[in-house]
Amino acid sequence: MPFVDPGSTQDLGRDVAAAFERTFGAAPQVVGRAPGRVNLIGEHTDYNAGLCLPLALPHATYAAVARRDDDRVRIASGQETTPWEGVALGPGDVEGWATYVAGVVWGLREAGHDVPGLDILVDGRVPLGAGLSSSAALECSVAVAVVALLGLDLDDDLRRELVAACIRAETEVAGAPTGGMDQTVSLLAHEGAALLIDFDSHSTTAVELGLPAAGLALLVTDTRVSHALVDGGYAARRADCETAAAFLGVASLRHAAAAAVEELEDERIRRRARHIVTEIDRVSATVEALAARDWQQIGRVFRDSHVSMRDDFEISCPELDTAVATAVEAGAVGARMTGGGFGGSSIALVPVERVEAVARAIDTAFVASGFGPPAHLLAEPSAAASVLPV
Ligand code: GLA
Repeated sequence: MPFVDPGSTQDLGRDVAAAFERTFGAAPQVVGRAPGRVNLIGEHTDYNAGLCLPLALPHATYAAVARRDDDRVRIASGQETTPWEGVALGPGDVEGWATYVAGVVWGLREAGHDVPGLDILVDGRVPLGAGLSSSAALECSVAVAVVALLGLDLDDDLRRELVAACIRAETEVAGAPTGGMDQTVSLLAHEGAALLIDFDSHSTTAVELGLPAAGLALLVTDTRVSHALVDGGYAARRADCETAAAFLGVASLRHAAAAAVEELEDERIRRRARHIVTEIDRVSATVEALAARDWQQIGRVFRDSHVSMRDDFEISCPELDTAVATAVEAGAVGARMTGGGFGGSSIALVPVERVEAVARAIDTAFVASGFGPPAHLLAEPSAAASVLPV
């Protein structure tokens, strides 16, 4: 069964450095690496000051960077070797994927760092448009490379500062109104663990998963149905949540009581808010079940989460519903759609010996439903962004 291969960090780092040299005619000074992510549970809770529980994937983006003597920035990729080139990097100055890269340089300058002109080339293994945060991986790989070039020590405080700069790049420069989960986990994840992020207290806690010892694996299925965060669905959900909070007189839905939510008059707003308050509880329930190694309970919580996203938040689609239902029928302990929704990926907790069979069953179900072929990958909880030796 072909799973999407994360490749070897060393080989991919070397490849991106070689591509940089071919494009810009000199070797890079530094290579940054940042992982994509998959969310175990806690969807659309981040911009509601809630809880979420993502983990970093072994699939990452690599950014090779060198300092220039002028103030120009050139941005290329393994696929687009003719660089974007410019001096102004802020909102409205750049178009297309290079916006995410330029936005990080802008965000670091806004945060007070003296970032010179740069040559940048990026490439990677995070599937694009799969709801696995290829854009955050791109931002964070550039961020860690640039601060290494400035000679800064990538400690926890600096990592948190980079999270903020990358979020500004995404929301203010690229214009995707996302909530911060993706950049936080890409820069702060721990190998072998998920990261419990509390967007109210802004604290992060590593939560050991212990999957190998339990004979379990996380199977991610990319439905290959397009998902674009700059499209209207995500922003509309966010606006509904803000409307609900305003009706309830709370600063965010984190502070809304479930009973008060059920009193909301507008039926759609009520369902949106119900998803958020119940989903935040499900994150806590998952953390407790992980501590108790109660996998069946996690399966039930995943099921409820999926139903809530399908019926109350309305962000699923037939391909995601099929992937989730088929995974469970074929032996997964639990499954749910993951990420922003409207396409993208599902995640399933599966006994190791059933992984291939579950993936095959999803492939078969997709053919039977007339859907295009999905892609699968194994989500081994991996380390946060780092700088590679060049
Ligand atoms: C996208 C956004 C995140 C988060 C998720 C949904 O991945 O980038 O901030 O809101 O959707 O949980």
